[in-house]
Amino acid sequence: MPEPGGRAVSSPLAAAGAEPTLDRISAPGRAAWSLPPLDVPAADLDLPESSAALPPLPELSERDLVAHFTRLASRNFAVDIGAYPLGSCTMKYNPKVADWAAEHPGFRDLHPSLPAELSQGALEVLLDTEAILCELTGMARATFQPPAGAAGELTGLLIMRAYHEAAGHPRRAIVIPDSAHGTNPASVTLAGYEAVHIPSNDRGMVDLAALRETMSAEVAGLMLTNPNTLGLFEEDICAIAAAVHEVDGLVYYDGANLNAILGVARPGDMGFDIVHSNLHKTFATPHGGGGPGSGPVAVVERLARFLPGPIPVRLPDGTAGWEVPDNSIGRVHGHQGNFLVVLRALAYMRALGGAGLRRVAERAVLNARYLEHLLAGAYDIPFPVPCMHEFVASAAAIKRATGVRAMDIAKSLLDLGFHAPTVYFPLIVDEALMIEPTETESPETVEALAAAMLDIAARAATEPDSVKGAPHRTPIGRPDDAAAARHPVLTWAMGD
Ligand SMILES: Cc1ncc(COP(=O)(O)O)c(C=O)c1O
Repeated sequence: MPEPGGRAVSSPLAAAGAEPTLDRISAPGRAAWSLPPLDVPAADLDLPESSAALPPLPELSERDLVAHFTRLASRNFAVDIGAYPLGSCTMKYNPKVADWAAEHPGFRDLHPSLPAELSQGALEVLLDTEAILCELTGMARATFQPPAGAAGELTGLLIMRAYHEAAGHPRRAIVIPDSAHGTNPASVTLAGYEAVHIPSNDRGMVDLAALRETMSAEVAGLMLTNPNTLGLFEEDICAIAAAVHEVDGLVYYDGANLNAILGVARPGDMGFDIVHSNLHKTFATPHGGGGPGSGPVAVVERLARFLPGPIPVRLPDGTAGWEVPDNSIGRVHGHQGNFLVVLRALAYMRALGGAGLRRVAERAVLNARYLEHLLAGAYDIPFPVPCMHEFVASAAAIKRATGVRAMDIAKSLLDLGFHAPTVYFPLIVDEALMIEPTETESPETVEALAAAMLDIAARAATEPDSVKGAPHRTPIGRPDDAAAARHPVLTWAMGD
């Protein structure tokens, strides 16, 4: 069976219809490990009856085990295989220098509870990364504890709460645009605030007049990503920030889209007070896929006293140590979050340097604009504004004419060797296809992706049923996502 992109499926057995499943390759007594003979007295463990009966597990040799997982892995799509234009997620190729750094035993095997004098190298990594992140975002200090973007949002909002409480009035509401990522209103609720939504205008940007009307002494702050979730740079960002500051609100930057402005513009210069960065999107760790993330939160000087502690500091004797800020909101995670993701980010930043990071943003925007230009005409582009690193197209007209929906187009792309774009987000665009080619794809790949999407649009008119039935060439077709989310099967038994 061929897979997307024409890759051959792993094993000849698969072609013969005898794909080896775990229970078929299991044989009693086989094991994927071998231990030296016991040279200490065997302990007589007094186990309760229930734990004495081992669950039936497959018994495999190391060779069969590796073959099994390699076969499964080869059925999946990955950033190392091809273009993965999953808008908002920044699924770009991550240079292998990041793996090299994270595999260094001196860092990888370091126990996080070691005292400062025995972990100077790790502290230097944190201080160096903090300095670069603060330079890139225009902030003063940062915490590395949050393990993801959403965790960074919650941390930032708790810092906002602490700031207003210290001023004697915790306030009630956080304002967010109607195009916001779903984690924003969720974090607002978790932080004990009420989310107040403001509409986007017909250019896909925050409606400044509507924003000004919502401002009051009850507003703790505004959460915004810029470029916003439509991939558009907020033209009025300085006026937006000023309107929030006028009521002593704080402005939170959801840094999920930092990729677009790296080294070109800084949230701090736009008026933002708190910034989270998604190291697992912008800086060399893949987003999604179940891996650990890192969502450090950086703040302006006047908010540094509220950061979760401890934070790394330079001590008077020149060594590095720890400090708990005076009005710290307390810990938001164990130790310093996912340290190896921070290390990957530092390797990436140092390998690229300042000019290289700026080139990341320039190429991310160039690729997205080129792709948008190639698709315009076949797909609707709902907002007449040049995009940044991603854009939202709409399949609404294609659906009206042919019945083919955004989901069908996304599934068809899988047959043509590309990962699907994000679909049906942001919610304010009908039949949305949110496309982020990223800076790591060559012009040839961008053109091939455009050709594939144009081919699908043409086939929607001539053979709509074939597009609606896609994918035709992947190991599984269309899983029922809703059922999978609502009734997840979290157990496995031999023979399943
Ligand atoms: C705009 C935006 N905000 C927040 C997040 C949340 O980040 P995370 O998935 O790391 O929690 C994302 C994730 O894709 C995002 O795109």
